[in-house]
Amino acid sequence: MYKQIGVLTGGGDAPGLNAVIRAVVRTAVNEYGMKVIGIEDSFEGILGETRTVQLTPKSVSGILPKGGTILGTRNRGSFVKIVDGVPVFPEMPISEALANLDILGIEALIVLGGEGTLAIAEQFDKRGFPVIGVPKTIDNDLAATELTFGFMTAIDIATEALDRLHTTAASHDRVMILEVMGRHTGWIALHAGLAGSADIILIPEIPFSFDSVIKKVKEREANGSRFTNIVVAEGAKEVGGGEMYLDAKHTRLGGVGDYVRRKIEELTEKETRCVVLGHLQRGGSPNAFDRMLGTSFGACAVRALAEGESGKMVAFQASTIVTVPISEAVANLKTVPIDGQLVRTARDIGISFASPAESDM
Ligand code: F6P
Repeated sequence: MYKQIGVLTGGGDAPGLNAVIRAVVRTAVNEYGMKVIGIEDSFEGILGETRTVQLTPKSVSGILPKGGTILGTRNRGSFVKIVDGVPVFPEMPISEALANLDILGIEALIVLGGEGTLAIAEQFDKRGFPVIGVPKTIDNDLAATELTFGFMTAIDIATEALDRLHTTAASHDRVMILEVMGRHTGWIALHAGLAGSADIILIPEIPFSFDSVIKKVKEREANGSRFTNIVVAEGAKEVGGGEMYLDAKHTRLGGVGDYVRRKIEELTEKETRCVVLGHLQRGGSPNAFDRMLGTSFGACAVRALAEGESGKMVAFQASTIVTVPISEAVANLKTVPIDGQLVRTARDIGISFASPAESDM
């Protein structure tokens, strides 16, 4: 049995990170008599002058409903370089980190993160250092788990935003566009669009055409609804077009909502407004479901380590928590199945995805 384990949070924050940390500490200390060291600022905290903090059930008391992460996080650190679009893991920071973990007396790690962070965690396992991953992303795009914590909270926030936009759109007879997060996948847009009664949902998995968008807006006008609500995922693309970025290095997605707004105004002369929901989807308190999922993930991650597992990620499958190889989770993004039940349901109730085929229907 390990005497002392470490825990760290990497990548963008997500509501529920603190719920996981709390469950890790309580389970490790109370159930297995281990000590827990919190590593600050993701893997960066075990490089150079290490930044760590001893975590006890007392020190994590009260953090369950808190947003963010008490350990801090980093998005793009020193452990991975992208060469010709492929992630490469240089040996140097990993050997330095392993040496520092040895000095700190940390015998195993629990790593909370999305695809990028978990791919780094896997490198530690490959070098014989025990690691268990915990899937985190509001985007819900990690394979091998049906849900990641943070996603349900993000949907709640996006749904409330849509509800609020609905009343102002209806009062002014406007087209309202809500741009939501979801790096390369449309999970947030699809779920919030259904829950918040959007008329058009634009997602990366179904490239859209303006003919289709305009057809839907006009159809609604003809039927007496002089307003239209659109939810667009930040990675949505027009047929033949690409994803839009806010920076030249193509690290920050965004801008598609305003692009759609300008085109709709140009093509319909209807007043159109765009709201970018941005980090409001990531900040603040987790909802009840994410607290519960984060707590279950945290406890199960410690249990997996204690039972000698490594190189695995805890995952939510068929309403229970299982462990799966990290490699399975990071191999491919989990995208929205375009012939899946949710897309079908949306279409059945009259929501348009503005695919070119829909303009001919
Ligand atoms: O991966 C989660 C996510 O919320 C993406 O949807 C979004 O593109 C990205 O993070 C933005 O992250 P940041 O602003 O922290 O770079």
